[in-house]
Formats: sequence, structure tokens, C-alpha cells
Amino acid sequence: MNVYDGWRIAAMLKHHGLTETASIPDADIIILNTCAVREKATNKVYSALGRIRQAKKPSALFGIVGCVARESGADAFKRIPELNFVLGPQSYHKLPQILSDPDTKLFNIDLGGLEKFDSLPQMEKSPLVSYIPIQEGCNHCCTYCIVPYTRGREISRDFNRVMADTIHAAKTGAVEICFLGQNVNGYKYTDENGKTYRLSDLIRETAKIPEIMRIRFTSSYPTEMTDDLIDMFRTEQKLLPFLNMPIQSGSPNVLKRMNRPYDLEQYLTIVNKLRAARPDIQISSDFIVGFPGESDSDFEQTMQIANTIKYINSYSFKYSPRPHTAAALMPDQVPENIKSERLLKLDSNLNEIQRAFNLSCVDKTLTCLYEGIDKTSKHLIYRTPYMQQCIVEFIENAPTMANIKITSANKACLRGEFVD
Ligand code: 5AD
Ligand code: SF4
Repeated sequence: MNVYDGWRIAAMLKHHGLTETASIPDADIIILNTCAVREKATNKVYSALGRIRQAKKPSALFGIVGCVARESGADAFKRIPELNFVLGPQSYHKLPQILSDPDTKLFNIDLGGLEKFDSLPQMEKSPLVSYIPIQEGCNHCCTYCIVPYTRGREISRDFNRVMADTIHAAKTGAVEICFLGQNVNGYKYTDENGKTYRLSDLIRETAKIPEIMRIRFTSSYPTEMTDDLIDMFRTEQKLLPFLNMPIQSGSPNVLKRMNRPYDLEQYLTIVNKLRAARPDIQISSDFIVGFPGESDSDFEQTMQIANTIKYINSYSFKYSPRPHTAAALMPDQVPENIKSERLLKLDSNLNEIQRAFNLSCVDKTLTCLYEGIDKTSKHLIYRTPYMQQCIVEFIENAPTMANIKITSANKACLRGEFVD
């Protein structure tokens, strides 16, 4: 979502006649787009602001947008008095005001809904993989998560506007569409005639666009994986056989305290339905280790579920207490050294699963999407349907989509060669 917001901010400034510079001392305006999901990310923002303050030319405007702006509020101006603007994740479309009135302090952290999406200029050229936001915010209120505070309650965008953005992306260069939302599979939009649209409707319509070859969506909440959506994996071959569906923990007790009210049986039933719909589907997850009260045996259950589901491409994090969240006030906070130990164990388990999956791809032919050229080795980089990186010998006029036979693999990536 932040990558997407960054693109839109860049497109907006371009629309106002600005061009990109290569270095901070050259810039007339510097915008730090920020993430508040873990404390480490927030701390990085303030150390980056300190560096920028020293490196920028005195007349340059500078400020922060995104979740740290919303979390810090007007305090940000107190911490860094030189800041010209502080704009929350739903207010960055107001940024041009600072260009016309650079002597004011621009401050807005309102959760105004979806105005920003529809008041920003379209991008002239779309990337091969284009992100299309379809909903923002979250109503789940997991007890560790700051997102419902920073991005607000869940709102779904107008179906026709999403489709207009998707068609625009396809006509200006997109080959893959990634629908975005904090709770993307909760997408639900009812038009003025009372007709309700779900994510499955967006996928079905997008699959009809000839330029679009691949569709995916992220991030999904397990119990919102409804049958109409699962069915899309059966009927729409353009929908990639890869799904990010975070479980966070394998312990029913921890899940309860996280306020994620599903049990493992329910989760496994959804996974089985997905595999019945698309036998080659792979699933990825996010995990939090060291949530308050997590015991050794709770943690072992997380290790076990990782082995049972055989998650690929997953992310694991140490629990980080966040302001405005219930878990930060819970007793039995887990000591940092135990969190670190558990993270190491889980990561090494997930890496082994990833390596085994990558090795299982050797000798298979996968249809991959061009991503770029490795600057040092000059090899071509492609993305498999499972988001693995695949490296191929350089050729002129590399195809956008290619069938690639996988010749070798390790934990990090695959190597392959073009098949006719
Ligand atoms: N501490 C650690 N990880 C967190 N996440 C969200 N909030 C926290 C937190 N307080 C993780 C979750 C989520 C991912 C985007 O970030 O795993 O899925
Ligand atoms: Fe945060 Fe995701 Fe839980 Fe929503 S579902 S509160 S975004 S972790």
C-alpha cells in the first residue's frame, strides 16, 4: 500500500511540473512516506528525518506523509521544527497546497475516506505490475495492530472506479494487476441500485481484459475467504495460484488474545477448499512471535502449523508494542531475547520450507513475468507465479511473459532458461 501511495505522490508532483532528483541536496521538496506498523519502522523515520534535515538545501520543503504522520500528529512539528508538512495516509492528495503556499505549516491527519484515490491524477504510464487499491482501513481490530488507528475503519471503493483504474492501468502498460487492501477480501461495495460487488466480481471483470495476464490480491483475512472468491481460483486461470493469507500464530490461545476469532480447524478447512479449487496453489503467511503471554508450547504450535501448511514466501516479525493498541497493555510481555530466539527458529524453519519448494520447481516450466535486469550480473530477472525470483541469461528484446524451464534453485531464487 505504501509503495502504491509513493507512486501516486510522485505522479501528483509530476503533474505539478516537478521532476525527480537523484539526491537530497538537489531537491526542492522532500517527502518521507512512512510506516508505523512496528516500532523499528517508526524509529527509522525519525533518524531519516534527522539525516535529511542536515543534507537538504535550506530552502527545500520537507515533511512526512503516511502512518507515522498520523501516529505522531502535531508532535512531529515539535520534534522536528523545520518540518513544512505532516499529512496522514488519507490526506496526501492535499500536498500541492504546500507548493502554492510554502510559508504555511500544512497539517492534516483526518481519516476522510477515499477522496484521495479519486482526486489524484492518473499515471501516464503504468508499471508492468500495477497495484490497484480497492479498500482501505480495517475493522478487525487485532489487539496488536495500529492499522485500524492509522488507516481508519474499513471502506471499499466504488466498483466502477476500481474497474476504470484497472482498465487505465491495462491500456498504459500493466500486465499484472494486484488488488490492494488491508483486508482486501472483505471488499464489499453496494451501488445506488442496491447491487453489491465483491472481490470475486473485480477478478472476473479484470480477467476479461486482454492485456492483463496475471491477477493477484493482498492481504487476505482468513475467515473472509468466501466460497465465491475460492471459486475464482477454479475458474479464472489468470488468477495466480498464490495467496497471502496470514495466520499470525498457530496457537488457539494466542489467536484468541490477538482477537483473531478463528480456530485452526476453520483455517485448515479454507486451505483445503483452496487446494481443491486449485491443486497447485501455494500459501504465504505473516507471523508474529513473542506476543504477550506466548509460551514455549504456544510457539511450538506456530512452528507446527508452518510445517503443516508448508507456507512459502512468508514474513515473521517480533511482536512490537504499539500505541493505541490493547496488546501493548497486556501482562506477560515476552522478553526481547526470547522473541529473538523464537524469530530465529521460525525463520530458519520457513527458509527450509522455501528451499524445499524452490527445489521442487526444478525441471518444471513456469510462465513468468519480466521484472528487470540485474545491474551487476546483467542477467534478466523474472517473477514466477509464486513470486519467486527467477534468473535467466541476458537476451536482447526479452519477452514480457515467458515460459521458463527451471534448471536450479536455492533458498533465495531460481535459475532457468527460456522454452520456445
Ligand atoms: N508487532 C509485530 N508485527 C506486527 N504486525 C502488525 N502489527 C504488528 C506488531 N504490533 C505484522 C502482522 C501483519 C504485518 C503486516 O505486520 O504480521 O500481518
Ligand atoms: Fe491489522 Fe490486518 Fe488485523 Fe486489520 S486484520 S487489525 S490490518 S493485522
